[in-house]
Amino acid sequence: MFIQELGQFIDLQNKSQILLLLSIFPIISILVTSYLKFFHDSKKPLPAHKAKNKQRKPGHWKPEDYKFPIPPPYPNFDLKKTDPIPYRAFKHKFNITMGIKNTHPHDWLEIDNQWYKYHDLKVKRVAEKGEKNMKTLPQSQDAAFELLDEFREYLPERYPSMFKKIPLGIENLQTGEIFDYKSPNWDKDPMYVTAHLIQDDVAIMTEEEDGQYRFTSGSIQLAGSWRFRDKFNTTLSEIHYNANVPKYESNLKKSMEKFFFNMTPEQLVVRYNYSFQMDDNLDWAVSTLGDEENHTYRFTGSLKAQTIDGIMYRSERQSLRRLPKSGAIVFTIRTYFLPLTQICQEPFVPKRLLNSINNWDPDSQVYKGLIKWKDIVLPYLEEKAKEQEDQGYTVEKEKLNFPF
Ligand SMILES: *[C@@H]1O[C@H](CO)[C@@H](O)[C@H](O)[C@H]1NC(C)=O
Ligand SMILES: *[C@@H]1O[C@H](CO)[C@@H](O)[C@H](O)[C@H]1NC(C)=O
Ligand SMILES: *[C@@H]1O[C@H](CO)[C@@H](O)[C@H](O)[C@H]1NC(C)=O
Ligand SMILES: *[C@@H]1O[C@H](CO)[C@@H](O)[C@H](O)[C@H]1NC(C)=O
Repeated sequence: MFIQELGQFIDLQNKSQILLLLSIFPIISILVTSYLKFFHDSKKPLPAHKAKNKQRKPGHWKPEDYKFPIPPPYPNFDLKKTDPIPYRAFKHKFNITMGIKNTHPHDWLEIDNQWYKYHDLKVKRVAEKGEKNMKTLPQSQDAAFELLDEFREYLPERYPSMFKKIPLGIENLQTGEIFDYKSPNWDKDPMYVTAHLIQDDVAIMTEEEDGQYRFTSGSIQLAGSWRFRDKFNTTLSEIHYNANVPKYESNLKKSMEKFFFNMTPEQLVVRYNYSFQMDDNLDWAVSTLGDEENHTYRFTGSLKAQTIDGIMYRSERQSLRRLPKSGAIVFTIRTYFLPLTQICQEPFVPKRLLNSINNWDPDSQVYKGLIKWKDIVLPYLEEKAKEQEDQGYTVEKEKLNFPF
C-alpha cells in the first residue's frame, strides 16, 4: 500500500531501487540496534564467569559486577585511643620475594590514633606540592572515581564514628570535611579525596595492551624516600629497575607480572617491608636524601647515624586490590613509623631484627643504606638481644606469628 503510493511520486525506473532500499531497511535497523545493545552490554558489569577476564587480552578488562564485602565496624574503634597495629615484619631469615599474604577484605584500610598527624601533614603537602605529588591521567579517571566509591562504601561501615556516606560523597564527622566528589561542581583531582580520608598513600596502576601496569593516578605524600613525580606515568618494571630493587629480575619480575594479570577483584593481598631512617620526618628523609626539591638519587647525603635515639624504624604495609569495574589495580601504602629503641623493648624483637639484617644480601645492604647506621644499630641490637636472652626470651620460645 505504502509502496504503491510512493511509486506514484517517483518515476517507474526507480521503483525497483526503492523497493530494494525498503526491503533492506529492517535488516540495517536490526544490525544497528544490536550493535548498540552489544556496545552497551560490554560496559555493563557482568558476573565473573561471563566476563571471562582470565582469558582477556591484556588491557581489555570487562567490568565485573562484584561487590567488595561490607565490613563490620572496627572493634572498639576510638580515634584517640586505638593504637596502630604493631607490625614487626621481619623474620630470622631474609629473602627477597613478593612476600604477599592474602588478607580478609574487612581489613583493607586501617585507621588509628595517628590519623591526625598523618592527615595534617598530608593536607599541608597537598597544598604545597600540588601536582608534584598527586595526579590522575585521563585513562585513569574512571578507576580513580571508582576507588572513591569503594572508600565511600567501606569507610563509613568500618569507622562509623568517623565517616558518613552522604548523597554526593563522603563526610568526615571528626573534622567536618565534606567531599562531594559526585557533584557536577566537583573540580578537584579524585586523589585529593584519598589524601584527606586515610593515612595511606594511594597508587592506581592500569593495565596496558602489552601487559604492563602503568602508574596513572595517585597521591603520594608520605613516601619518605621517593618522589611521586619520579615514578608517575612509568610502569611497574620501570619503577623497580629505576629504584635498583635488588633481585628484581631474578626473583620478582616473572612472578609479579603473572600475579598482577591473574589478580581478581575478590582478592585482597598485603605485603610488608621495613627499613630505618635517620630522622623522624615521615614525609621526606631529609637527613640522608637532602632537600626534597633538589633530590636526584637515593642515599646521596653524607650523614651517618650518630646515636641510637635518632633512629626510626619505618615499616610499610601495602595492600593491593583490583577494582571490579575498571580492572585497575590499587595499592594503598601505609607507613608505621616509630623509634627503634621503642620496638626493641618488645620481647624477641632485637634478636629477630638482628638476624634479619645479618641475612640481607649485598644489594639489599646498599638499597637500604646499611652503611649509614650499621655501626650504631648492630651493636645496639646485639646488646638488647643478649639482655633479653638473659631474661629468658630465647629464640626457641618465640611464637612466630608473622607479621608480628
Ligand atoms: C606517559 O608515558 C607515555 C609512555 O612513555 C607517554 O607516551 C605519555 O605521553 C606520558 N603521559 C604524560 C601525561 O606524561
Ligand atoms: C629466595 O627466593 C627465591 C625466589 O622465590 C628462591 O629461588 C630462593 O631459593 C630463595 N632463597 C632462600 C635462601 O630461601
Ligand atoms: C618498601 O618497598 C617499596 C617498594 O615496593 C619502596 O618504595 C619503599 O621505600 C620500601 N619501604 C621501606 C620502609 O623499606
Ligand atoms: C634547591 O635548588 C634551587 C635551585 O637550584 C636552589 O635555589 C635552592 O637553594 C636549593 N635548595 C636547597 C635546600 O638546597
